[in-house]
Amino acid sequence: MRKAYIDAIGMYVPSNVVTNKDLEGRMDTSDEWIRERSGIEERHHVDGECTTDLALKAAEEALEKAGMTPEDVDHIIFSTMANDYFVPGGGPMMTRRLGIPGTPALDIRMACSGFLYGLSVAKAFIESGAYDNVLLITSEVQSVALDFSTAGRDTAVLFGDGAAATILKATDEDRGLLSVKTHSDGRYAEDLMLRTPSTLDNPFLTNELLDKGYGRVVMNGRSVFKHAITKFPAVINEALDAAGVNKRDVKLVVPHQANLRITEAVANRLDLELHKVVYSNIQKYGNTTSASIPIALYEALQEGRIEPGDKIVVASFGAGFTWGASVMTW
Ligand code: COA
Repeated sequence: MRKAYIDAIGMYVPSNVVTNKDLEGRMDTSDEWIRERSGIEERHHVDGECTTDLALKAAEEALEKAGMTPEDVDHIIFSTMANDYFVPGGGPMMTRRLGIPGTPALDIRMACSGFLYGLSVAKAFIESGAYDNVLLITSEVQSVALDFSTAGRDTAVLFGDGAAATILKATDEDRGLLSVKTHSDGRYAEDLMLRTPSTLDNPFLTNELLDKGYGRVVMNGRSVFKHAITKFPAVINEALDAAGVNKRDVKLVVPHQANLRITEAVANRLDLELHKVVYSNIQKYGNTTSASIPIALYEALQEGRIEPGDKIVVASFGAGFTWGASVMTW
């Protein structure tokens, strides 16, 4: 049966490294607090670059690794929570940046679950025979929408900027995506959100709204934490069942890098060994939203932690709330 598989991944993070110590100079926080609560040591912030700048660098690397030119891309799927423009989205912008006008492109606004939702669309596109080569871009510039005063410290310290580009291709071989399961629950929309520009307000962008902080990411950290540690294991088990794979046969679980404490709790609940079976690189990048899973996959591949034939699980949880998991044979 025709399946979709990940052929290549490219990644890019801005060169500007922001350590916890750097943040100490901008708000009332400490390296110790951030490490203990999140595992994060540093993150990258843009210095004048926009979302499609990061995306382009990642896409160029992925295309080169796949031995493809931009013209070989049949469809772009673009995931971000911070586009260059409010409208149009990053998908069409990437056809311009890659020099492939006319290529179909769609945008996904599923925050931290953007990679999982992107996989679900790419899987359907490829399995149906509609497209052979799909470029899934996940590119995030968070630092411009964070509040770096002490009032925003619970959120601002957690996020970082970064991008990944994943090329999915068709195969008839015994490899590729076995299952993708996704969920959402808008009852918790306000627990992690960026409100403005919003049609709740007319006009939807005023200085008064910005003064209220509506243009910044806000989060109810405890609610996110509580839901994440139950939803992650549940959806991973659901995706394993759908794929007919036993969790003991999984070589590596690559969860969205939200917070090391969440990853630890998920590893405990699934009775899987952290660092050996459950991957983490949050210390270097913070939470890069939809880019975090493919960036982690990229590094796990570089470290030789994934080999052909391995059973790999990826999983996400984030704003919406949204969550999902996928099981694949590498
Ligand atoms: N530096 C120092 N102190 C901080 C701080 C910071 N960056 N952020 C918050 N604090 C303070 C709080 O003001 C509070 O002070 P108080 O006790 O005087 O009121 C204290 O630390 C504890 O705050 P609390 O919110 O209870 O901390 P917590 O243990 O719940 O940890 C999070 C906060 C955000 C780290 C935690 O809730 C979390 O990890 N949530 C999930 C976040 C996440 O992963 N989001 C992305 C999902 S995709």
